[in-house]
Amino acid sequence: MFPWALRHLPGPHQEIFRHQEAMKGFIRHEIIRHKLKASEAPKDFINCYLAQITKASDDPISTFNEENLIQVVIDLFLGGTDTTATTLHWALIYMVHHRNVQERVQQELDAVLGSAQAVCYEDRERLPYTRAVLHEVQRVSSVVAVGAVRQCVTPTTLHSYYVPKGTIILPNLASVLYDPECWENPRQFNPGHFLDKDENFVVNEAFLPFSAGHRMCPGDQLARMELFLMFATLLRTFSFQLPEGSPGLRLEYVFGGTLQPQPQKICALPRLSSPSPDLTEEGL
Ligand code: HEM
Repeated sequence: MFPWALRHLPGPHQEIFRHQEAMKGFIRHEIIRHKLKASEAPKDFINCYLAQITKASDDPISTFNEENLIQVVIDLFLGGTDTTATTLHWALIYMVHHRNVQERVQQELDAVLGSAQAVCYEDRERLPYTRAVLHEVQRVSSVVAVGAVRQCVTPTTLHSYYVPKGTIILPNLASVLYDPECWENPRQFNPGHFLDKDENFVVNEAFLPFSAGHRMCPGDQLARMELFLMFATLLRTFSFQLPEGSPGLRLEYVFGGTLQPQPQKICALPRLSSPSPDLTEEGL
């Protein structure tokens, strides 16, 4: 109710504020570095935002300023780090759990990419099974099960429900990703949810892990690209399995903002047919 009061109360939460200040200091430093190199053409987000601050300097109601730039950079890191890493964790766990799916992805990667050195994002068009598997990982793991808290800005009627202005809204994204009317076997891990009868990749409009509308995740394209490149590269290079003596996989999630897998060990064994030259056991 009084979030500002936390800053003045002693306790372990003060650690969070110390980390926050350290992070802000790091970003401030980056902004100065960018300003010193200002003559070059804008290359990244900080460059573009700084240009926007200059452009809007005569606008008294502009929100473009350096304090906001620092906060936006923090938001991008907060929004984009844990979500993507957690999805990849789940992807590896599901590959260990469904060995046949892992092998089929590897067969497709080998057949389509051959000895090409690196995977690129355009390759996804030629890798329908790999793409379907990754979509199914995102659907079943439902990493952001409940979207960001929003507030209704205008009176609205949705499916005959009246939503008054000011209503606090918590979108239950997991309910869409597990909707029995949209998915054949919502509780089962089945890449077939994203394949047609000819094994072509198909979009399903209930696939909304990034939410929908004006405030949907602004990092969705980046996340899709990162996930595809990392997943395909990992599966091309390694086979994943349980270590000897393992008590088995633990598939129940832990709630930590996102739905995270429990800490557990899995082995990455270099594949003999791996195209990457340095991934011998000594190179790892
Ligand atoms: C698997 C990866 C990701 C998932 C599942 C995910 C999911 C989401 C969801 C569900 C929301 C709430 C949208 C809403 O309220 O309608 C959101 C917001 C957000 N995401 Fe992501 N996200 C991912 C990756 C990223 C990445 C890579 C970035 C940035 C580099 C990012 C930055 C943000 C930011 C800044 C917001 C808040 C947007 C706002 O308040 O308007 N996300 N994300």
